Order: sequence, then C-alpha cells, then structure tokens
Amino acid sequence: MDDASAVELLDNGTVEPETPSCGPKDVPPQELSSNDPDVLRAALVREHDAYRRAECLAKMQTEVVQLALDLLVREPDIESFFGGLTRTMVEESDSHVCGVWLMDDDEKRCDLWMAYVADRLYLRRHGGLDGLAFPHESLGKHLLGYAPGWTETIEYECDDARLPDAVREFHREGGIHGMVIAPLLLGTRTLGWIKLSSRGIPPCKDAQWWRIELIEAIARQAALALHHNRLVERSRLEERRKAILEERNRLARDIHDNLAQGFGAILMQLQAAQREIGTPSLPFAQKLETAVDLARTHMIEARRSVGTLRPNVGDGEEISTSLKRIADLAQLTTSVPIDINLEALPRVGDSVEREIVGIAQEALTNAVRHARARRISVRASTVRSIGLRLSVADDGRGFARDRSSAGFGMTSMQERAERIGASLTIVTAPRGGTEVVLAWEPSSLPTQVHVAG
Ligand SMILES: Nc1ncnc2c1ncn2[C@@H]1O[C@H](COP(=O)(O)OP(=O)(O)OP(=O)(O)O)[C@@H](O)[C@H]1O
Ligand SMILES: [Mg+2]
Repeated sequence: MDDASAVELLDNGTVEPETPSCGPKDVPPQELSSNDPDVLRAALVREHDAYRRAECLAKMQTEVVQLALDLLVREPDIESFFGGLTRTMVEESDSHVCGVWLMDDDEKRCDLWMAYVADRLYLRRHGGLDGLAFPHESLGKHLLGYAPGWTETIEYECDDARLPDAVREFHREGGIHGMVIAPLLLGTRTLGWIKLSSRGIPPCKDAQWWRIELIEAIARQAALALHHNRLVERSRLEERRKAILEERNRLARDIHDNLAQGFGAILMQLQAAQREIGTPSLPFAQKLETAVDLARTHMIEARRSVGTLRPNVGDGEEISTSLKRIADLAQLTTSVPIDINLEALPRVGDSVEREIVGIAQEALTNAVRHARARRISVRASTVRSIGLRLSVADDGRGFARDRSSAGFGMTSMQERAERIGASLTIVTAPRGGTEVVLAWEPSSLPTQVHVAG
C-alpha cells in the first residue's frame, strides 16, 4: 500500500486501515520558517505526516460512508446492516467485541441489542444474547446513568473506576484491556452506544487514535441508519393501523347495512305476520315466536359486532362522546331505558381512554344481555379533576360470584383495567342488580379487581 492510500477497500467491501504513525499535531509556523536546516527538515517531515494523516482520515471516512451505503443496499434489514457494521469494526480495529446498546422509546432503559464477538453475531431477538457472559445489564445501567461526556467517545481502561464492579471483574477475568464507547447521536439526542473492546496487549497510542476515529465514523453512519429505519418503521405501522381501521370500518358497515338491516327487516315481517295471522294453531304460533326470537337475537348480535368492530375511541374523540355513542348504540338493541350522566371529563390519553371505553362497552353489553333490568345507567365523573370514575349499573337479576367466569367479558374488563393500572370493582348479588365501577387516576394505584357479593 503506498503512502497516499492508507485506507484500502478489500474485495469483500471492508475497510483496511494502515495505522498512521501518530495522532494529529499542528506544526508551529515559526519552525517552518526557521533558518536552521535541521529544525526545518523536522518541521517539514511532521507537516508531511500531519497531511498524510488528514488525508488518510478523510479517505477512511469516505470508505465508511461507502461501506454504510453498500450495506444499506445489500442487507435486507436494520439488524443485518448493524451486523455488517459491527463485523467491520471488529475486523478492522483488531478488536474482540463490538456491541450496540439502544435506548428504549421513553429513554428509561438501555439494553444490549446485538454484539459481534470474535467471529459471530449475537442478536437480542429470540434470546440470542443469553449465551453471553458479559454483564450487559450493568453496563446498560451505567450508560444510561453516566451523564457527563456522553456527547463524546469515552475510553475505559480494564479496571476503570467509573465502570460497574461486574464489568471490571469481567474485564479482569477475560483479559480485556479496555474499551471505547461512542454515542449514537442524532442532533442532541442519544439513540444508543456502540462499544468496542479488545483483548491481549493494549494497543499503542496511535492504533488507539485510529480505532477512535473509526468507531466515531461508524457511529455517525449507524445513528443515521437507525433513525431512518425508525422513521420508515413508524410510517409502516401507521399505514398498517390505518389499513386495519379502514378494514374494520368496512366490515362494520357491511354487517350493519346487510346483516343487521336484513335481520331487522325479517323481524318486522315476522311481527307483522304475527299480528295479522289471528289465532294460529299452537305449534305454528310457537314456530313463529321462535323465528321472531331468532331474528331478534341475530339482529342484536349483528349490531353488537358493529359496535365491537368500530374503534371505541375515534381519533381525537372526547371520552364522553365515545361513551354516549356506545350507550346510544346499546339503546338500539334494547327497550330497557339507558340513562346517561356524563360530566365534562379530562383528556387522559388515547390508550387509557380506549381501555376505559372498552370496559364501559362490555359492562353495558352485559347489562343489556344478562341483567333483565328495568333501568340501566352509565355515569362518568372526574376525580380531583385529573382522574375518572365510571359506573355502569343495572337493577336486574345480578349474579352469583361463581358464575362470574362464564365468558370472556369479565376477563377482558379485568385485563383492560390492569393495563392502565385502574381499580375495577363489580358489585353484584343475585336479584340485587349489578354495578361495575372503574376508578382511574394518573398516578395509578396498583390494580385491584373486586367482585363483591
Ligand atoms: N349485569 C349483569 N347482570 C346479570 N348477570 C351478569 C351481568 N354481567 C355479567 N353477568 C353474568 O356473568 C357472566 C359472565 O359475563 P362475561 O361478560 O364474562 O361473559 P358473557 O357476557 O356471558 O360472554 P362474553 O362477554 O364473552 O360475550 C354472564 O354470562 C352472566 O351470567
Ligand atoms: Mg359479556
């Protein structure tokens, strides 16, 4: 390799660095204008070195960009892309391990995502990191908590006092002489970290300088690729969510316009026949009555399916609007009056609202289907202006505790309450009516589900 080509691309597309002799140093201008030939010669040699180094650095950075582009085109997904980057890091910097730690979405956790160790890639997916002895959870906590300096690459020695004990012990036992960790930065945001550690004889200062330049160049490409991938993934999920909603709406419309309307029309015809037929024979009257019952039941079920398919909480819809909508829908399926009493309610976030309305819907459906009530009521009020209290009550036949596990509805209400950390109480007794009470506050108490007899 000649002087000007300190970095060469190998046939397989990886970067081969020729380690420069030392880190960059400025040559003082007075030396370059010195009349002493020895001083001048030394200054020229150093300037030439510095020039070569800058040239070699620029070339390496170009090669890394090229490598990232090649990997983006060649690899089918982001994991394989990072797999290629980490392999290159290990091979080109004479290191033993290259690991990638990522922050989770709310930046409360930092976990090892993948590690290229010796000549093999380990992925977190499917428990692929279980075989690694490295205390990656300790280092994850350290990365998350060690605030100063994280906009820059940090070098650690084997027994570095800043490191958690478990990591230092692992280094001592495994003969790791140190590591270099570079943040994956996107503007002022840290998406994660890339870590390189080496075994054996510690590298000389110059090789370490080169390794840091390389990891930083790779970290820049990695952060960009990660960000791009997340944007693509987010819009893919959004598209999927929209497609699912559209399909559900289409199904709901179909069921409503065809099945439910169809059963409604059959029911009307049968009822008209019942009125007009006078006094039929008993078997005939019974058959007609059964047909009326069947048509009514299936009409109710079809309408219920419409209610289930349509999202409980529309995008941006106020919770009280959603509650009113499901109560109105339920009213279409029963002649039992449903009283609605809704205070102005605070917005508590789409996901919480969705669960609350889901619970209201199930409680209401149960009251309509099972209670044989004379009245049903839906009430919602604020709690200390930040929380919510929802009650769905009926004055029907109630039920005994041991029957409460007959269907999916109870379990689903319980699971929904657990998901949002709410307290769910079901007060019921045979012939004593039923009341489902849900209480939710932002600083939620642990979920409590009671079935009080
Ligand atoms: N308001 C109510 N009044 C009287 N009985 C009720 C009431 N709510 C629930 N039950 C009783 O509790 C049982 C369990 O309710 P759950 O909602 O779990 O199941 P389901 O309504 O029968 O079926 P699914 O909800 O899965 O369609 C019901 O079958 C019914 O016997
Ligand atoms: Mg039910």
